[in-house]
Amino acid sequence: MIVTNYSTDEKTFLELTMKKVKQIVLYMFVLFFFTNSFALAQNAEDVVKYRKNIMKAIGSHISVIASNVKGKVVIESDIIPHAKALYLTISSINIEKTFPSDTAPNDNLKTKSLSEIWEKPKEFALALNNSVKKANDLLSATETKDMKLIGKALGALGKSCGACHKTFRKEK
Ligand code: HEC
Repeated sequence: MIVTNYSTDEKTFLELTMKKVKQIVLYMFVLFFFTNSFALAQNAEDVVKYRKNIMKAIGSHISVIASNVKGKVVIESDIIPHAKALYLTISSINIEKTFPSDTAPNDNLKTKSLSEIWEKPKEFALALNNSVKKANDLLSATETKDMKLIGKALGALGKSCGACHKTFRKEK
């Protein structure tokens, strides 16, 4: 038998549930709206510091690998993890978010980024792609455990960093 008549108690319960659902939907909407506006309200100074940290992290991974390749330390088990971290880090750089136009050089920002980044966005993206490729080559080389190959791949990666810096980063 199908019951179509709800008792008063059940009705009240249903109404209350609907009210809760509406409240939750509203809450989620407000939360979504606020998180979005926070994301939009990135402070230029913070973004500059942030991208410097990413660059420094990449530089540190290279130094760890280079110390082993040059034989300054013999902790070769670190090479693969740092090559992986380096590749993951550089390949995840989101140019739009990490180099937004309001972080182009001006008197108030401590940035070495040059305005060329925003004037030649395609070249900048290509320079990054090139480094990502070289970081991937380095990762492949580390898997061979051949120090000569690793050294060569590291040198090629270093050149690709330098190529971008030459055009897009202030020297001093
Ligand atoms: C696509 C261009 C590009 C590539 C590729 C690139 N960089 Fe950079 N790098 C920059 C720019 C631009 C800055 C300046 C950031 C700023 O001051 O706003 C920078 C800054 C740096 C800094 C200085 C950070 C600081 O504390 O001021 C280091 C270190 C660095 N890069 C290392 C590297 C290494 C190592 C690689 C290669 C694995 C690399 N970068 C690849 C563009 C690039």
